[in-house]
Amino acid sequence: MSDPTTAGSTAGAPHSDALVIFGFTGDLASKKIFPALYAMVKAGALTVPVIGVASSKWNTDQLHRRVRDSVERESGIDDPPAFDRLISLLRYVCGDYKDPATFTALKAALGRAERPAHYLAIPPALFATVIRSLGAAGLGGNARVIVEKPFGRDLASARELDAIAHSVFPELSIFRIDHYLGKEAIMNILYFRFANSFLEPIWNRDRVASVQVTLAESFGVGQRGGFYESAGCLRDVVENHLFQIVALLAMEPPAYQSFAAVHSAKSSVFHAMQPLTPGDVVRGQYAGYREERDVAADSDVETFCALRLFIDSWRWAGVPWYLRAGKRLPNTAVEVLVQLRPPPQKLFDDARPAMGRANYLRFRLQPTSAIALAARVKRQGKEFVGDQRELYLCEDAENGETTYQRLLGDAMAGDSALFTSQDAVEAAWAVVDPVLANHYAALPYAPGTWGPGAADALIAGDGGWHNPEQNPRTEA
Ligand code: BG6
Repeated sequence: MSDPTTAGSTAGAPHSDALVIFGFTGDLASKKIFPALYAMVKAGALTVPVIGVASSKWNTDQLHRRVRDSVERESGIDDPPAFDRLISLLRYVCGDYKDPATFTALKAALGRAERPAHYLAIPPALFATVIRSLGAAGLGGNARVIVEKPFGRDLASARELDAIAHSVFPELSIFRIDHYLGKEAIMNILYFRFANSFLEPIWNRDRVASVQVTLAESFGVGQRGGFYESAGCLRDVVENHLFQIVALLAMEPPAYQSFAAVHSAKSSVFHAMQPLTPGDVVRGQYAGYREERDVAADSDVETFCALRLFIDSWRWAGVPWYLRAGKRLPNTAVEVLVQLRPPPQKLFDDARPAMGRANYLRFRLQPTSAIALAARVKRQGKEFVGDQRELYLCEDAENGETTYQRLLGDAMAGDSALFTSQDAVEAAWAVVDPVLANHYAALPYAPGTWGPGAADALIAGDGGWHNPEQNPRTEA
């Protein structure tokens, strides 16, 4: 019989024999991690002890209730024996991350486990403290560390954090998570681009007029005001999630068949991005944000961010890339719109720009997944008039495997294909670094709108924003 802790490991890398989750009582754990653990147990992919660490003084009952509530709410419990198996794997260590005694207790809870994976689902300000303490307690060794984003607050702190991480863990044991990379629809960008040959001839500055990516969320910061105050929209989702999408769309074909080649091609995109200037960025803040819990009464933190960037590469020079993300927008959806140049000759009156976008590719990435190609087709009749139609190349229901299920499983198996490299992290920070502190004030916007008007002005010359609808079939 195969050892469940080594089955499925990558290239002989040993499987982690325990999973330690820092931030066990936090928002991320409750929203995404517990359902992922349940799914992993159900799939037979998690059979090792799971040790939660947090400062909340919870007893076993409270802890189990929290896990049950989370799984019931997020995914439902359709396999009660699997849920019981998950509960039987759980241990809990309560303590302050700054107190060495917490790590002594963790060591005891790990028992005979020799190769734990330490997952830091905690506020970024605590990453360094926990990593150093793991090292001091002798819990580095053969272990792996999985670090949530944002990795650092800027270029300098990302480098500093990397040095601290390397003082305890070798590079192969450091997993920098960006959960967007575990999303099926986002992996499909890579596949769609390079498994087809029809795209390549048009995928460049000659045929593409502009590209826009929107990550819209209809909810606010909720209980995460404290975190948000230290991050803001640019650090929270733009510099990582949206940049990763851009990298997959803009990268050159990987030079050879390996994820190392994919990483390198993506990093090159970040290196080729022009550093942002304040004029490229519109920051917004929804009305009512300052009344949220743990938010400063005079906060200038942005809950909305729209920006224009350029990639100085042979393929993309001169093509504007527009990125937009925000909370309390009208919908919750993520979409990419690649706007193709219009036909050079205006043969038909109805094909003028005023009639809408002529041709575009639309990638719907969330909450459903779809790829649509828009073209104008003639209506029946004598007149040469037509309508814009979308050809659906792919339309899927939400993927069965959750992103965290995939990513935690991969990290525990030592597979870093879907994690970000330090080179990419630093190159991405270098693009946003100039505007992290030096920017215009956040402009107010009403909840349920698409952000401040200045964001519309940013893209006005390129056909305006495409606002993703809840209905995935809605055309741009
Ligand atoms: C997280 C951000 O990384 O991504 C959140 O911290 C955001 O603010 C979330 O809501 C969006 O992720 P998803 O998978 O729900 O689109």
